[in-house]
Amino acid sequence: QDKAAAEKKEPLRVATNATFVPFEFKDDANPEDYKGFEMDLIKAVGKELGREVQINNLPFSGIIPVIQQGDMDIAAAGMTMTQERAKNVLFAAPFYESKLVILAPNGSGITSIDDLQGKTVAVQMGTTGAGYAEQKGLNIKQFDHNSELIMDLQVGGAQAGILDKPVADYFLAQDGKGKYEIIDIPDTKSEYLAFALNKNNTELQKEVNAALAKLKETGEFQKLYKQWFNT
Ligand code: ARG
Repeated sequence: QDKAAAEKKEPLRVATNATFVPFEFKDDANPEDYKGFEMDLIKAVGKELGREVQINNLPFSGIIPVIQQGDMDIAAAGMTMTQERAKNVLFAAPFYESKLVILAPNGSGITSIDDLQGKTVAVQMGTTGAGYAEQKGLNIKQFDHNSELIMDLQVGGAQAGILDKPVADYFLAQDGKGKYEIIDIPDTKSEYLAFALNKNNTELQKEVNAALAKLKETGEFQKLYKQWFNT
C-alpha cells in the first residue's frame, strides 16, 4: 500500500477550451464535468498512463503559451496540427480528420468564400478558421470561445462563421437543426486534430502515442468515436 502511494505519479495537467462540441464542452446540468469525445479520450489516456487527469478551461489562444511555459502538460483542445504550431509544441498522433467550413443561416445566399466579402464573419480567436479568414482579407469578429461564435450567429450578429466541420455538423444536428447550412470551402485541405505537448516532452509524447495505440487495439477508441460521432 505505502509503496504504491509513494510511486503515485504526478497528475496530468490538461489544457482545454471547453466550448467545442462534441470534442470538449460543459453542460448546464453538470457544470463541473467535462464532456465530449476528446475529454473522454484524454481521460482514457490518463488511465493508461496511471495518472490522474486534471482538466483546466482556458481561452483557446492561451493554450499554446501554457504548454510552452510548462504550466500544463498536454493540450486537449481540438487543436489542428499545423507547421506553424509545430515550431512551438509537439503533437501526439492525430485522432481526428477535420476541415474548415462556412456556417450560415438558411437562405443566406452564401455559396463560397467570395460571397463573404463585405460581410461580417465570426471566428474563434487563435484558430485555423480565424487564420484562414484573415488570410482571405475578410471582415472578422473574433471570440475567445467557440460557443460565442455560434451565439453571435444566432442573435444575428455576424452573417456567417468559419469553423471546423465536425463542430458545425454537430450544431446542425442539434440546436441549429433546420435553421443553418454548411457551405464547403473547396480550397482548404483536411486538418488533423491532435493533443499538443511541450517541445521538450518527447517522453510523454511516446507514452501518449502508446496509450492511443493501445486504445485503438482494445476498441475503446472506436467505441468513443461511435458514441460521439454516430458512425
Ligand atoms: N481546429 C481548430 C484549430 O486548431 C479549432 C480548435 C478550437 N478548439 C477549441 N477547443 N475551441 O485552430
